[in-house]
Amino acid sequence: MTQIPTFSDRLLDWFDEHGRKTLPWQEEKTPYCVWVSEIMLQQTQVSTVIPYYTRFMTEFPTVSDLAKAPLDQVLSLWTGLGYYARARNMHKAAQIVMGTYSGKFPSALEALEALPGIGRSTAGAIVTLGHEGWAPILDGNVKRVLARYHAIDGWPGKSDVVSQLWAVSEDHTPRERTADYTQGIMDLGATLCTQRNPRCVDCPMNIDCQAHIQDRVSDFPGKKPKKAMPQRSTVFVQCVDAHGLILLEKRAPAGIWGGLWSFPELSEDESLAHWLATHGLTLRDDAETQPRHSHTFSHFKLEITLIRCPVDVTNSRIADGQQCGWFTLHNALSLGLPAPVLKMLNSLID
Ligand code: ADE
Repeated sequence: MTQIPTFSDRLLDWFDEHGRKTLPWQEEKTPYCVWVSEIMLQQTQVSTVIPYYTRFMTEFPTVSDLAKAPLDQVLSLWTGLGYYARARNMHKAAQIVMGTYSGKFPSALEALEALPGIGRSTAGAIVTLGHEGWAPILDGNVKRVLARYHAIDGWPGKSDVVSQLWAVSEDHTPRERTADYTQGIMDLGATLCTQRNPRCVDCPMNIDCQAHIQDRVSDFPGKKPKKAMPQRSTVFVQCVDAHGLILLEKRAPAGIWGGLWSFPELSEDESLAHWLATHGLTLRDDAETQPRHSHTFSHFKLEITLIRCPVDVTNSRIADGQQCGWFTLHNALSLGLPAPVLKMLNSLID
């Protein structure tokens, strides 16, 4: 039986044929160039970064030029790239590299990680791509490749998931050709093993990629769990007089359903009896509590309890006017109504 080549051997073969080797930051692979490009490439696409990188390097060819420059000049070169903390951190880090390391980028992971704006993965990329050393990396692309290859469930923002990913990244990272492997796994994630349209047929890992074998590629990496929506509850009073007219109120212009017509709403802790008494209404028959309606807004869920109240309006203190009125069902249905109120009115049609 022939053995399948290792993950890293297949990746290196794939990199030799398909990897990116002519990006501007690959011309001269100094730790400084690698650092600048890796910071710019955080949360930003290669095509967007290229012109920014080129201008930045023309202006600040060395870490000393960057450290000496006024922050305003650095920020102005960053305009349009977003996440400006990256530029401020780079400026600070450049000054530390000048002051503490005599202008030489440190090659130890711990020293790199201690610099502002450099996390574990960026430190790994500087070590491998810039210093020709050995270190694993785990940026967004690599997380996706490895989560799929090993079918590692769960959201990579969770510490147990991310530590499993770091462990497999470390296992796969070869001692030789580490820089090519590092660039290759980022390239595989950016070009084949993409978030939306992965091209598994062309992938050198498809024979033993667990997500591919299980036909679950889109399940990895796991999504961030959605926060439970906050819930609010309210009570609507549906008053119907002896002629079948329905009481509606125009809502205040601000707030939910501003300016739309709705049933009067009981304020918090107010009893129905109190509300009826203050409005001069009396029940002609028993009030009936309807099953709850649930309505979902973008940021909360509203549970609405509707109480149907056949009322006598002889002593009513409700004046017909701009803010409220008694409507036939037909006329009510022609007003601007919130969706659940429309549903509740429609249920009155028999
Ligand atoms: N994304 C992060 N680092 C990269 C690199 N060195 N080349 C291409 N894309 C990247």
